[in-house]
Amino acid sequence: MRLELSDEQQMIQAMAREFAESELRPIAEEIDQEARFPHETVKKMGELGLMGIAIPEKWGGSGADAVAYVVALVEIARHCASHAVVMSVNNSLYCDPVYKFGTDDQRERFLRPFAAGHQIGCFALTEPQAGSDASNQHTVAVREGDHYVLNGRKLFVTSGREASTALVFCQTDRAQGRHGISAFLVEKGTPGFTVGKTEDKLGLRASDTVEFVFEDCRVPVASRLGQEGLGFKIAMSALDSGRLGIAAQAIGIATGAYERAVAYARERKTFGVPIGQHQMVQWMLADMVTALEGARLLTLRAAALKDAGTPYTVAASMAKLFASEMAMKVTTDAIQVHGGYGYIKEYQVERHFRDAKITQIYEGTSQIQKLVIARDVLGTRP
Ligand code: CAA
Repeated sequence: MRLELSDEQQMIQAMAREFAESELRPIAEEIDQEARFPHETVKKMGELGLMGIAIPEKWGGSGADAVAYVVALVEIARHCASHAVVMSVNNSLYCDPVYKFGTDDQRERFLRPFAAGHQIGCFALTEPQAGSDASNQHTVAVREGDHYVLNGRKLFVTSGREASTALVFCQTDRAQGRHGISAFLVEKGTPGFTVGKTEDKLGLRASDTVEFVFEDCRVPVASRLGQEGLGFKIAMSALDSGRLGIAAQAIGIATGAYERAVAYARERKTFGVPIGQHQMVQWMLADMVTALEGARLLTLRAAALKDAGTPYTVAASMAKLFASEMAMKVTTDAIQVHGGYGYIKEYQVERHFRDAKITQIYEGTSQIQKLVIARDVLGTRP
């Protein structure tokens, strides 16, 4: 694995950094407090090519690679984790599977405008009883001629209110269990498809998380992604890429908190000296930066494996597990360095702390990542 970034990867990283510093840093606190979706800046991320980084230019993307995607996402999350999740879901959970499993007709309609950032996509897998146990799908799609009729509910859909198309997973043959799950591209405005409750969340408050309801919703057969019964594999493959994105998001969140802790340690004085001169604070900062580097290396390794076309499921799970646990610890310690000031909104480390928590939960909890890794260790992966 190359440890240095290529010229193109460095260019994309620098562009994302510049954008995040000039456009996201000034608004991140406000949109968090107002729980307001940032339409303008999400549109700008599209114009900069950040919404379909690894999708070929032929299909509206930037034609870069997974390493470029990861380093750009870190820069976005460093200032605003809400923008990062919108970017991650669109790239990894929507564009990636539509590119990989779609026909050219589907790529034309359901990929090009999304990779170019003109429209936003979302991923609807989770149901009230199907979180970690993702194959326990109750939403059904029954074939009637040249349509499927969808009925059921989806939960916790990131970008679900803002997205114009959803990748929706349904049972098409319950008797086949997870081999009876199929994937559909369902457009907003399709009769029988409604957006339900919007969740009020601890973190990522500027991104929307909603419920979907399908009631006799007719979807053309041409909107099925991949063969009937391939849905679970499509979901799992998308989540491999998604977990890379969440690892990068966690690194960005932790970097933001760490940088605030370092700045504070230089300026805040106790017992006559800056607190950074106290060994206990130095230890915390040293642990933070070391853990951050560890997470960065694991995540770049997983991305490099993806770029090389090598299986990277386990590497992505390791990266996501390590990076999200690291982010929770680093953001907790960043508050500790700030003392009481860390607990109030003004210093913004509490925002990084609130945003970090979800990285241990969504796109597979830390426990699910350990299950994926342990199955590999024991040779019991299916
Ligand atoms: N790529 C391709 N195929 C895969 C795969 C992968 N990474 N992982 C598994 N599969 C295939 C297996 O090969 C197997 O195929 P066969 O049956 O043909 O052999 C099939 O899928 C079933 O695999 P498992 O036996 O491992 O399935 P399982 O039911 O035991 O579940 C699991 C495995 C890892 C626990 C999985 O259910 C899982 O990842 N759960 C977590 C779900 C999750 O991450 N949800 C996130 C929701 S999205 C979200 O959070 C979005 C957001 O908005 C930000």
